[in-house]
Amino acid sequence: MRRGSIVALLGLALIAGGVATAVALVPTWLPEDASQEAGRIAFTFWFVIAICIFIFAIVAAVMVYAVLRFRVQEDDFEDGPPIHGHTGLEITWTIIPFILVTSIAIVSAIVLSRNDAQAKDTLRVDVTAQQFTFTFSYPDAGNVTSPVLMLPKGRSVELYMRSLDVIHSVFVPQFSQKEDVVPGLVTQLHITPTRLGTFPLECTELCGLGHSLMRSQAVVMEPAAFASWLKKQGKTAAPPSSTTTSTTSTTTTTSPSAAGLSVFNANGCSSCHTLSAANATGKVGPDLDNLVAYAKKANQPLEAFVHDSIVDPNAYIQPGYQKNVMPGTFGQSLTKSQLDAVVSFLVQSAQKSGNK
Ligand code: CUA
Repeated sequence: MRRGSIVALLGLALIAGGVATAVALVPTWLPEDASQEAGRIAFTFWFVIAICIFIFAIVAAVMVYAVLRFRVQEDDFEDGPPIHGHTGLEITWTIIPFILVTSIAIVSAIVLSRNDAQAKDTLRVDVTAQQFTFTFSYPDAGNVTSPVLMLPKGRSVELYMRSLDVIHSVFVPQFSQKEDVVPGLVTQLHITPTRLGTFPLECTELCGLGHSLMRSQAVVMEPAAFASWLKKQGKTAAPPSSTTTSTTSTTTTTSPSAAGLSVFNANGCSSCHTLSAANATGKVGPDLDNLVAYAKKANQPLEAFVHDSIVDPNAYIQPGYQKNVMPGTFGQSLTKSQLDAVVSFLVQSAQKSGNK
């Protein structure tokens, strides 16, 4: 093989590699970062992708050039010249991948340890996942709970995540991180938000019929706005979280139907059920505006029917729906006052919509 061919081949390969890498890196493929961790993850991602594309383009260019340039002539039946290895080439193609793979390992290790490093004033948020909703609570602020993940900008935040039933997974694309929520474990996720805004928070583990509806939001606020939000939530007597034993308040500070509505919303009932009194339009489970008819069909008094259907959802299944879709955990996770509040709220609104 002539020296000229090798120079041409190498030149072509390097140009192809450079062009392919540039084309791959120029468009914005990923959502704009909204956390420090996301920026580091994106850097690692593109570092690896750039290496892969560059090497792939070089290999592909060499192959294409060789196929075209050294194609055998039609009447040529000779064997190629015997070649017995090339020490220089072998050393080169061992050392270059070694350097590349090692550099990927070093970059990844640095990013992982930096992303997990909590600041001194890290804010703790407890995340409870259940079919098919997320609840976020702030134990340092008197267990304020929220169906939306509220975060202060620029503060280091650690999520402590528990599941009440099956495996779920928390993913905010703009934060670039994803962590499973596994029954029996507390998994953790560290986030330092850098950009104000409202971002989608999704369950990314197939967890049942309502999986595609298991969505919430992450809202990043100015620290001052976040502090006043926390204060306000603490004052308006949020329903006690499922882990506390407190059975007071709730019904004393708010009207029974408002208390029931907040239990309804905090437990994600609206992601599966339709109920006009709660502006809920879920389609996974039975339409709760028809509870009067369902109770009649199940041959039970309305209130007992509603209570039993929450505590033991499999006891009566409305025709057209399946067993084991509704979580059977509400009997344990709701306090007695929460359960009473939501039952009377459902009974009231069912009677109203039944009389329409
Ligand atoms: Cu929870 Cu999918």
